[in-house]
Amino acid sequence: MNIRPATKDDVQFLKKMLYEAARWNPDWPREPIEEVLADPVLVRYHQGWGREGDGGVVAEVEGAPVGAAWYRLFTAEDPGYGFVDDKIPELSIAVVPLHRRKGIGEALLRSCMVQAREEGFQALSLSVAVHNRSRMMYQKAGFEKVDESGGNWTMVANL
Ligand SMILES: CC(C)(COP(=O)(O)OP(=O)(O)OC[C@H]1O[C@@H](n2cnc3c(N)ncnc32)[C@H](O)[C@@H]1OP(=O)(O)O)[C@@H](O)C(=O)NCCC(=O)NCCS
Repeated sequence: MNIRPATKDDVQFLKKMLYEAARWNPDWPREPIEEVLADPVLVRYHQGWGREGDGGVVAEVEGAPVGAAWYRLFTAEDPGYGFVDDKIPELSIAVVPLHRRKGIGEALLRSCMVQAREEGFQALSLSVAVHNRSRMMYQKAGFEKVDESGGNWTMVANL
């Protein structure tokens, strides 16, 4: 497994991973990807990806992308789910179902935190459902709960 920085050319793969993150619960229906990604709330996470302030990493196995962790800045006027302030980018993460539970998610998370720090950010935030077991991974990596609403935690890690 190889981890490399994400570029503008990864936008289609990041959109696939955004779909996986938005539909993380296997008990939920899997509507067509185009339908889910067209939701205005999710459009904010992928539109024009690669702009100033965007960053992230992609994991590859035998040259094929299998997961990604990436971040984007939001504003108070147009916040993401895990918005804290306009200087703290919000993280998204997913691994393709076939490659989960092999340590790739944790490796992506840690690489993404290093990259964000190197880009000059002091913290990363995220939003996670209380029932999503990935919460354990975030806590292990240093994320702490700063807010809770509607069954979701907003978490922040100081970098
Ligand atoms: C969350 C996700 C990215 C984790 O990637 P992964 O490669 O499976 O994670 P890892 O193998 O590195 O596991 C890291 C830790 O996460 C936790 N974890 C992740 N998924 C879990 C699950 N289904 N059950 C229990 N623990 C889980 C565990 O603490 C695990 O550590 P452990 O294996 O030492 O117990 C991946 O499961 C995924 O894509 N899920 C769907 C999308 C999603 O939920 N995104 C996050 C939205 S906030």
